[in-house]
Amino acid sequence: MVGSLIQRLRMPDRATYLGKGRANELAALAREHDVDLVIFDDELAPAQQRNLEDLLEARVIDRTALILDIFAQHARTREGQLQVELAQLDYRLPRLTGRGRAMSRLGGGSRGATGGTGGAIGVRGPGETKLEIDRRRIRARIAELKRELEAVRQQRGVLRRQRGAQAIPVVAVVGYTNAGKSTLFNTLTSAGVIAENKLFATLDPTTRHITLPTHQEVLLTDTVGFIQKLPTSLVAAFRATLEEVVEADILLEVVDVTHENAIEQSATVNEVLAELGAAEKPRVTALNKIDLLADPSAVDTSLYPNAVPVSALTGQGTKDLLTRVGEVLASRMVPVRVLVPFDRGDLVEAFHRRGHVARERQEERGTLLEGGLPTQLVGVFAPYRTPARRVSHRPSSAAGASDDQREGREEHAAAGAE
Ligand code: GTP
Repeated sequence: MVGSLIQRLRMPDRATYLGKGRANELAALAREHDVDLVIFDDELAPAQQRNLEDLLEARVIDRTALILDIFAQHARTREGQLQVELAQLDYRLPRLTGRGRAMSRLGGGSRGATGGTGGAIGVRGPGETKLEIDRRRIRARIAELKRELEAVRQQRGVLRRQRGAQAIPVVAVVGYTNAGKSTLFNTLTSAGVIAENKLFATLDPTTRHITLPTHQEVLLTDTVGFIQKLPTSLVAAFRATLEEVVEADILLEVVDVTHENAIEQSATVNEVLAELGAAEKPRVTALNKIDLLADPSAVDTSLYPNAVPVSALTGQGTKDLLTRVGEVLASRMVPVRVLVPFDRGDLVEAFHRRGHVARERQEERGTLLEGGLPTQLVGVFAPYRTPARRVSHRPSSAAGASDDQREGREEHAAAGAE
């Protein structure tokens, strides 16, 4: 950024948003720095945007366009991409129409032979014809996107169910813009904790497969920054880019603890999470940027759930942070004991990846696993559950074979009961 400018006005100027004098001042500033782009931190009417572009001789975008641009970079799921494209076209359409109206007024407003709001025959210029075509194309694409979105939504439910058995916990990094999400994400994923990545070769660059100090494997995913004053027209697109958050098993909220509005920023994050229906998800909080504090030990961790002071920049505290994530994940697991038949190696693998394996043993009829599983997976393993053996009044030396026989009988009994 080469410069910025603020004006206090009771209401924005209809033509140029800024007052005339201030607009000219901005034009001089733009020329002086040879700027390519001027961003207005508010919504501009299509006409204001055009007038400003003419005046400033630079590209002009408003808050909505900037946010859309950021969303476009963050949209990774099919739904997210469709939703963002839809919002972009919705945004562009009235801006095209604006120029079209100006031209049709020249033609006296009567309808041309090709319909639409074009001017009288003979007045319609080639530019306008192109405009009409552009508008029609955009409308057609919008209709197509809406149909596609509907299909994707229906498919999503099916996919989510199919993913169930294979998926590993997803940890979504959330936080107010500039809190340090991306820095923390990079530190956590480049600290030599990246697990064998072949399975996830198709993951996009903002999702990484890592192993926690507590041995669970998780997918860590970075998200778009949360902001105040989100234009309402963008709420749907924003939500779609935050699909990872909705589907995440645990949220890792990054708070810039050195920011004077840290608490308000975290409150904004909470509001958005509540709107997404994700406020109740288990959460670990990274109280970030403690390297900037004179006394990092004075950080108040009681204000946020599972708070761990860290510096994403220096790496300080990040191991403790990941350990806490692992503990929170494990604490939410359901204790289970299952006997998985040998032809279901996929389930044994799923238990290791997603659950916490306390004991594992090969038995005659399959693999016996004891430990904890995330709630979503308990159902998948239900057919293989087997009650814990009762060892209380049997001599410990007799464990081995008879134990296994007992197990077989108990399992039959359990299966019969079901
Ligand atoms: P958005 O993408 O806007 O949502 O931001 P973000 O939350 O991803 O923040 P990002 O990681 O881009 O960091 C924002 C700024 O804070 C950058 O200038 C970082 O260098 C700085 N920063 C991040 N973490 C730390 C930290 O632990 N200490 C210090 N001193 N600066 C940090």
